[in-house]
Amino acid sequence: MTTPFLPKQAPKFHPGLLTELQSNVSNDVARYQISLIPKLPPNATIHDNGCGFGAATSEMIASDTIPKDSTITATDVNPLWLDQLRQSARDENWNDRVKIDIMDACAVTYPDASFDLSVTNFVFTGLKDPIAAAKHIQRTLKVGGTAVVAIWNDISWLEPMLAAHYKTRGKEAPLPPALCLSLTVEGFVKVLADAGWEEEKMQWEDLTVWLQTKNLNDYVRLSWGFLGMPEGGWTVEDEERWEEALEAMKEGIRGNAEGYREKDGEVGLRMDARIVVLRK
Ligand SMILES: C[S@@+](CC[C@H](N)C(=O)[O-])C[C@H]1O[C@@H](n2cnc3c(N)ncnc32)[C@H](O)[C@@H]1O
Repeated sequence: MTTPFLPKQAPKFHPGLLTELQSNVSNDVARYQISLIPKLPPNATIHDNGCGFGAATSEMIASDTIPKDSTITATDVNPLWLDQLRQSARDENWNDRVKIDIMDACAVTYPDASFDLSVTNFVFTGLKDPIAAAKHIQRTLKVGGTAVVAIWNDISWLEPMLAAHYKTRGKEAPLPPALCLSLTVEGFVKVLADAGWEEEKMQWEDLTVWLQTKNLNDYVRLSWGFLGMPEGGWTVEDEERWEEALEAMKEGIRGNAEGYREKDGEVGLRMDARIVVLRK
């Protein structure tokens, strides 16, 4: 088997890249969501569904409003992120509160009524069967329980990344798999309805967060290197046109007055989340 080609400018993959890519944003959203949920019962059971490296889990553990006797089951399909979360759990002494399992959000095997709170952040957009995932959230929630789900409504750096893709690969080039965001907010509302969630049990919230980075060049390189890989893998032409892609992306980011800010040596990239709080 031949080793896939990697442009010399691309960041070498390691699990910490997701942490760098997400920067502060998932944590900021999770902190806001915690402020929306009703008081949890003693010994509450919590599911962090599609947990990644555990942004929501770490915020819930740090929060004073989440009871200290609650337990969190953190699940994901990607063992690399789970290994990273296991490491954090060891380093931070969370092992008595956090159980970590590999689990597909579309085929959750926990029994009905397992959780008082279920959190599913920025997972739905890439799911093969989002209706099944929404049904599992409902099925595994206890009566009186709460689920919070977040998806991105607008990502200021996404259009610039698409512009870089089309500029360097041509207008007909298929989108990189990581940028095929199949679920819009409208589609998500329909998914919840199709899964049987009743409209009167939903509360919708919008939240703007600013992804913070010290260095736009580094962030653009990281995000292009992580998400920009085309269908079929990187090509020699991607390497040759790497800088051109990055310049196009930076130009698009800086040109979006509402999506870009620079303050005290730090760059902010706007990201708008749509959050739904569901009650069972
Ligand atoms: C953008 S990350 C968000 C991670 C985390 N929820 C957060 O807010 O930081 C999306 C996560 O969804 C996970 N994921 C994708 N498909 C999944 C599936 N079918 N079941 C469970 N997790 C999935 C990915 O592995 C990744 O960790």
